Amino acid sequence: MIVLGIESSCDETAAAVVRDGRILLSNVIASQIKDHSKYGGVVPEIASRKHMEAIVPVILQALDDAGMELSDIEGIAVTRGPGLVGSLLVGLSVAKALAFSRRLPWVGVNHLEAHIASVFLNEKAPVFPFVALVVSGGHTNIYYVENFGVFTLLGQTRDDAAGEAFDKAAKLLDIGYPGGMIIDNLAKEGNRNLLPFPRAMRDSLDFSFSGVKTSLLVHVKKHGKPSSRQDLAHLAAGYQEAIVDVLVEKTLKAAELKSATQVVVCGGVASNSRLREHFAERSAEDGIDLFIPPPVLCTDNAAMVAVVGENLLSRGKIDEFSLNAVSRWPL
Ligand code: KG4
Ligand code: ZN
Repeated sequence: MIVLGIESSCDETAAAVVRDGRILLSNVIASQIKDHSKYGGVVPEIASRKHMEAIVPVILQALDDAGMELSDIEGIAVTRGPGLVGSLLVGLSVAKALAFSRRLPWVGVNHLEAHIASVFLNEKAPVFPFVALVVSGGHTNIYYVENFGVFTLLGQTRDDAAGEAFDKAAKLLDIGYPGGMIIDNLAKEGNRNLLPFPRAMRDSLDFSFSGVKTSLLVHVKKHGKPSSRQDLAHLAAGYQEAIVDVLVEKTLKAAELKSATQVVVCGGVASNSRLREHFAERSAEDGIDLFIPPPVLCTDNAAMVAVVGENLLSRGKIDEFSLNAVSRWPL
């Protein structure tokens, strides 16, 4: 089945064409980062308006890149939530319009499930069951995944998501938005062991990033913002290491508790180079098979939405045209 995926839950307008839930034929992402960066975060109304401008050209580009016409598409999958409702409604409305006018089956997809499913686009994909860490700007959740649609939440953040902890640190240090990629790059020039930041709740599978954030704030209040690039890099490296360390250890602990031999890491923060490196080292030590999508499929995209959509549509699920967007939608 050839599925058109559509994603507009936050600040990326994306469309992709995927065959049989496995083969990526095109993947187009229009980022709004430059429209939000001067505000230091996503402004919901700007996001909705930018989705409105971008959505049709992005879909046309995805069809073009796949060498297809709309008439070749056999089903439509769109992110229904969680996310910014005004943004979600843009993708959802376009998906409904296409499905209605072409008489195509269509489904609304959960964005978190889509992040997990992005791993099925890997050449080497896991088999159920596995443990998955979804780590993004809005979520830091560990799941035991038994099948599409069958999830058990094992751990979650009690305050900020890991991506938020990166973004807020970058804002505090005045080094740009979004912070994850900026801190990732800076940290490569720093010593991660020079400034030890706290690791919270070592005995639980839940996360908390408020301590590490406060610790950075206290450091900056005491010493001021780093004046040299080298000092900034040490700070970034130490801060990043504290976040990466707990993400890796808690996920591997969850795998041990569930006797799982495969671990999936996905979501925007999974594109972090140190996280990927540390997960690779520690999984090898624990004899765990590790699956992390390439960075372009870790951050928001529509290919992952098409993968979940194909699974639902091929099992006969079709949504009603009255379906609405949802800002919160736990798995
Ligand atoms: O999955 P995503 O694109 O959107 C959400 O669903 O939230 O994740 C965006 C988050 C942002 O907080 C961003 O700072 C973070 O992912 N991120 C990174 C990196 N690239 C993106 N965090 C750490 N290192 C990166 N290289
Ligand atoms: Zn996301």
